[in-house]
Amino acid sequence: MADSNLYIGLMSGTSADAVDAVIVDFSADQPRLVASHSQPFDRSTRASIHNLALPGTNEIDRMGGLDRELGETFARVVIELLEKGGCEASQIAAIGSHGQTVRHRPPGLNDNPFSLQIGDPNIIAQRTGITTIADFRRRDMAAGGHGAPLVPAFHSAFFHSAEQSRAIVNVGGIANLTWLPTQGQPLGFDTGPGNVLLDAWIMKTRGAPYDQQGEWAASGRVDNTLLEQLLAHPYFTQRPPKSTGPEAFNLDWLSSELARVEGELAPEDVQATLLVLTAQTIAASVSALQNGEFTTTYLCGGGAYNLQLRRALETLLPKQRVTDTTELGIAPEWVEATAFAWLARQTNERKAGNLPEVTGAREALVLGGIYPA
Ligand SMILES: Nc1ncnc2c1ncn2[C@@H]1O[C@H](COP(=O)(O)OP(=O)(O)OP(=O)(O)O)[C@@H](O)[C@H]1O
Ligand SMILES: [Mg+2]
Repeated sequence: MADSNLYIGLMSGTSADAVDAVIVDFSADQPRLVASHSQPFDRSTRASIHNLALPGTNEIDRMGGLDRELGETFARVVIELLEKGGCEASQIAAIGSHGQTVRHRPPGLNDNPFSLQIGDPNIIAQRTGITTIADFRRRDMAAGGHGAPLVPAFHSAFFHSAEQSRAIVNVGGIANLTWLPTQGQPLGFDTGPGNVLLDAWIMKTRGAPYDQQGEWAASGRVDNTLLEQLLAHPYFTQRPPKSTGPEAFNLDWLSSELARVEGELAPEDVQATLLVLTAQTIAASVSALQNGEFTTTYLCGGGAYNLQLRRALETLLPKQRVTDTTELGIAPEWVEATAFAWLARQTNERKAGNLPEVTGAREALVLGGIYPA
């Protein structure tokens, strides 16, 4: 619908935990969530996604099949979301689908950088009858950018305050930070691992998908030798623009670092150390930007529900306030999906979606490919 201000955002991040979907009304100053829906991935789909996230055999066939499967899943999630929200497809202007990242090779480290998101948008448009906008990252990369992170533009549009500088920290598989000073340009970059290592370690050692509230981590003790080794990863001292993924932070890397530690660590001590790694790398980025000024850090993404992580951040940022985006009108789990609804709107209105100062692209650009209804 051409003049509608209702958009759907579809998000499934590197954690591959679930597809998060929202219907958002953009007719007022602030986005209004009309409906939300989250569909967890079953174990086998989650495994297929994780198995494609790192190099392996027969990738093209596996990717082609998963591209279709996820397209069907995303379409079903949209149909369920419409039912939940009591909306018709004809009321929705467009869907913004992030897609499932299966490989992110940022500029700097690679001669031919690329970022690949799957979940066929043709299928989404075909099944739902709604114009679908996808493939948001590659236009930014075509202009020399990282194609990531993209959410800072949304954070900047709706979460900026003229009275108080703010840090918005999205703790997904990877954590990304948006710095919103009261005046001047916003900044943003991936700080490093969010939940990715925490999830991978508890899955490997206990078969659980994630560490509820960080309780298992809380039962362990931080190993400072391992922590120092992990903090020595070159990503943490790289200057922005920068972005990363499970290609850099994964179990193989953790295992090689564990092999260098003398003696065997208790698995819960490893978890405790990984939690502090996430907290310290986020806190160090916030501290470097806030420059002694009082700021509030607003958490979003699934990591906002990790109580231990939140406590660790409060300890590491003693003069700051640490809260979550509920205070800004959007619950932590819906911020990213809402951002992709907004990015679809930007594209639909032929407005730029990237912040060049964040992604490193040469210019601000209209992002994404449009798959008409
Ligand atoms: N109650 C909780 N306690 C601890 N961790 C949680 C809790 N709820 C969610 N999480 C963590 O959040 C993760 C999911 O977060 P989210 O969906 O924001 O990440 P994502 O899908 O990787 O998104 P992206 O990487 O794009 O930001 C889970 O895998 C888990 O690690
Ligand atoms: Mg998720």
